[in-house]
Parts: sequence; structure tokens; C-alpha cells
Amino acid sequence: MREYGTVVSNPEGPCTRKFSFVIKKDTIVRKGQFVDVPVHGGKLIGRVNDIFKSNRYFTRPESVEKYESSRPMDEIFPVKNWEYLVADVTPLGVQNDDGKFDEVTFPPSPGTKVIEPDHAMLAKFLGLDENGLKIGKLPSHDVDVNLNMTKLLQKHLAILAISGAGKSYLVSVLLEEILNRKKEDGQIATVIIDTHGEYLSFADDPDYSDKITVFPGKDIRIGLSELSTGQISRFLPRLSGVQVRELARFLRQMKTDKKHFGVKDLIEKIQEDSKVKAATKDVLVSVLYELMETGVFGATSYPSTKELTQQGKISIIDMSSFVSSKVKQMIVAHLSQNMFNDRRDAKIPPFLLILEEAHQFVPETAKVENAISRGIIQTIAREGRKFHASICLISQRPIQLSTTVLSQCNTQIILRVTNPYDLDHIGKSAEGITREVQNQISGLRVGSGLIIGEGVNYPVFVKIRKRNSKESRTGLPLEQAAIEFSEKIKQNKEDAKSFM
Ligand SMILES: Nc1ncnc2c1ncn2[C@@H]1O[C@H](COP(=O)(O)OP(=O)(O)OP(=O)(O)O)[C@@H](O)[C@H]1O
Ligand SMILES: [Mg+2]
Repeated sequence: MREYGTVVSNPEGPCTRKFSFVIKKDTIVRKGQFVDVPVHGGKLIGRVNDIFKSNRYFTRPESVEKYESSRPMDEIFPVKNWEYLVADVTPLGVQNDDGKFDEVTFPPSPGTKVIEPDHAMLAKFLGLDENGLKIGKLPSHDVDVNLNMTKLLQKHLAILAISGAGKSYLVSVLLEEILNRKKEDGQIATVIIDTHGEYLSFADDPDYSDKITVFPGKDIRIGLSELSTGQISRFLPRLSGVQVRELARFLRQMKTDKKHFGVKDLIEKIQEDSKVKAATKDVLVSVLYELMETGVFGATSYPSTKELTQQGKISIIDMSSFVSSKVKQMIVAHLSQNMFNDRRDAKIPPFLLILEEAHQFVPETAKVENAISRGIIQTIAREGRKFHASICLISQRPIQLSTTVLSQCNTQIILRVTNPYDLDHIGKSAEGITREVQNQISGLRVGSGLIIGEGVNYPVFVKIRKRNSKESRTGLPLEQAAIEFSEKIKQNKEDAKSFM
């Protein structure tokens, strides 16, 4: 293994919380790199926290200024030979001689050699799993970041970053890994709520298309006759207790009369009724008209949970055609409630529900009537792991995302986040995010991220791997989109001319 340097003694250490080493000449050591140093009874694994340069020729400003005003100091003295690099290390843990990992209870001795850790040992120490989902590499070591699927997903995942930082790209990498899993390794069903149609490219990619089903927004239906009063009243949060009771009575009547019925049938039934008070009738009819206008309510639901959740496959709910946030929330509430119920009854396979723009569906502060899907997503976040119903929340506005849900996401992958309020919100919902880590998050570049929580044993920075699947057209550079638009206009004009 590569030698990095030698532990030095200074007023602050070595101690169990930190130590420093002088970097060997012509050796490159970077901030964030892991190191290995022998200690009593095993080897200590630490992370380089910072690197300092020192040169005793330049310690006294008055002498530097005097010399430099006559001749450059490097012409007078062998200054280059006296430049040193010192790395500060935060010890993370110890691998005992019996191979087990433990806390740091003993510092390394000054003079001990610091080396690069063995890659297999480092992967094990960080909690990576050879057979896990490969999302990238450690930034400074040739070690694959393979995340154990159970540890990553069972207790839910959140992917947080500013717009354009690479959240959807990372999700695509995860989807590739999920799709590549063999039957004998365990295949889950995946459902994506695709608010901008960013994942449709998977369906056009010959390597993946046979495992992808796209459900266009216009085809999705919430089957009224399959809903309980509780489910319908969730879509109608403004109804009073009396109005809900009346609605329940009509629903019961409809269910005994007819197997399948739509909103129109229900409205007619209410209008025909002579017992209900006129005021209640008016309210019920008016709110049901609003439901009908959305166009998503029908007699039966489509797709069914069975059509949606197939092992080793991905279902994309293409919501790009919807404008109304309420309609999108109704669909998410309906699908996720049914999926959760059927998973609890073991009617469908273990699943992962991926929610793009999660702050729209599980807002922190919105009123109940504007947060139709919040309740059920919170329930899945709280109880889902017992039934192998997992969620992955993606958001560029963590501060608007329900803290209850965010704190149930036991693993978080954070790409670049710059807004201090968002950073603070993330810090509150996850352990191990110190001020130092927050600074590093705001300096991350596209393609790099930080994994924290159950998915790994220690916070791990990762360089996300390149995706193999076809990239979405929403990722086109601005110039390219503008060129394509002018070409389209030109083509249209030429077509019109030749037609004339
Ligand atoms: N790991 C990566 N390697 C190479 N390119 C990347 C990587 N991650 C992201 N990109 C590029 O950066 C751009 C933005 O990525 P992406 O669409 O995933 O961002 P986003 O966080 O989902 O943004 P938004 O919040 O607006 O949806 C894309 O064009 C993508 O190709
Ligand atoms: Mg995106």
C-alpha cells in the first residue's frame, strides 16, 4: 500500500480525536482521503480533514519583506527544500487484530507511518456491499461505492440538491442498478412519479425498454366506485362532518344499486334525492362537479396496483401533462394508498415509490386542503419498512419538505445545496452534518454527492458514475434546444411551401 507520510507530534496530539502527519515528499494526499495507521492492537482508519503547508523561511514577515525587496528569497536560500505539507486527520474507527471494527480508544504514536488503507478493508469499514447498487466511486480512492439495497432503501431514501445538481441523473443510475439485479438477488418493483417526463427516455432505450411501462397521465383514472367515504373525503377536505355523513349514505346506496359508477352517476343520485337538505345537496353537487372537471375520476381505477408493481420492472407515471397541483396530489394519494394497502396484505411485491418534486406532495406547511397526498406518504414513511414499502423522495427545496417525512428517510444523498435555510433544514433532519460538512455540501460540483445515514457506516463522499441509459431530452443544453427549435420552424415552412 502507498505510504502517505509520518505521524508528527504537536501541542494538540496525536490524541484519539485528531492527529497530524507530515506528507512524504512528492506524494499527493488530498482533503477527504482515508488513511490507515497502526495503533496498539490494530489499525486506525481516519479521514484527512485539512492540509497545511509550512516553510520556516517564511515564518517572520519582517525578514521576508526585507529579503524580497532586494532579491527573491529562492535565489538566496534553498527555500523549496524546507516546504512541508502537514495533513490533519480525524480518526473514524479501528480495525482490531481480530478483524472487527471498533471505536478509537488509543492514538497512534508519533513517528508511525501512515499508509493508504487496503481497498477491501476500507469498503467494509464504510459499510459498502460488493453486491450492492453501484452508484459511483470514492473521490480519492479506486473503491466502488456499492450500496446495500436493504440499508439504502428499506428505511427510505431522500435525494436533495439544488436544481440542475444531478438528482434525476443519480436516480437514473439507481434505476439501472435496480433493473440489472438478478432474480436470485431479489428484485423489487419500482414506481416513479415523473412530474416532468424526465424518465421517459428509459422506454426508448433498447437496453431497458422491455422492463419499462409508461402510464400517460391522460389514461390514469381514480375509480370512484372503489373508494371508501374516507378516501373520497380526503379529496374533498372542505366538507363538514354532516356533509361527509350524507355523502357516505349516497355512496352506500350507489354501491348496492350498481357495481361501477362514476362522479356523474353520483351527482344524479344526489340531485334526485328528496330527503337531503337543499344546502347540503348544493355543496355536495358543487364539490363533486369540481372532481368531475379534473377528468381523472372514472368508474374503475387505472392502472391497478398489480399492473403498476411488477418485480424487476419499472412503472413510470408520466404526469408531465398535468398543470394542476391538486390533481397531481390526488393521483399520488390514490396510487400510494392502494399500493400501501395491497403491500400490507402481501398482494403485490415489495416496492420502491420514487417521488420527484417531493415537496409538492409532502409539503411542510401547506394547509390540509392543499396537501392531499401528505398523510399517506407520511404513513408509508412511518410504517412502510415493516411491509417492505419504501419511498425515495427527491427535492430541490428541502425546506418545503415535511420534516416528519424527511427525518424518516434514514439515508440521504445530498448533492450540491447552497441555500443556507435548506442546509440548516437538512442538518436538523440528519445526524453527522457538522458546519464543516455543510460547507463541503455547498461546494460540491455536479456529479458529486455525500451519502449519510443508514446506507453507510460513516458519511461518504461519492463521485456518481456515468449513466449507461439514454439521457432525457430535458437535459439538452440551451443552445441545442434553440437550434432544434429554429430547424423545426424552418422545416415547417418548407413543408407548407411544398404543399402549396
Ligand atoms: N453524475 C453526472 N455525470 C455527468 N453529468 C451529470 C451528472 N449529474 C448530472 N449531470 C448533468 O447535469 C444536468 C442536470 O442534471 P439533472 O437533470 O439530473 O439535475 P436535477 O438535480 O434533477 O435538476 P432539477 O431539479 O431541475 O430536476 C444534466 O444535463 C446531466 O446530464
Ligand atoms: Mg430532476
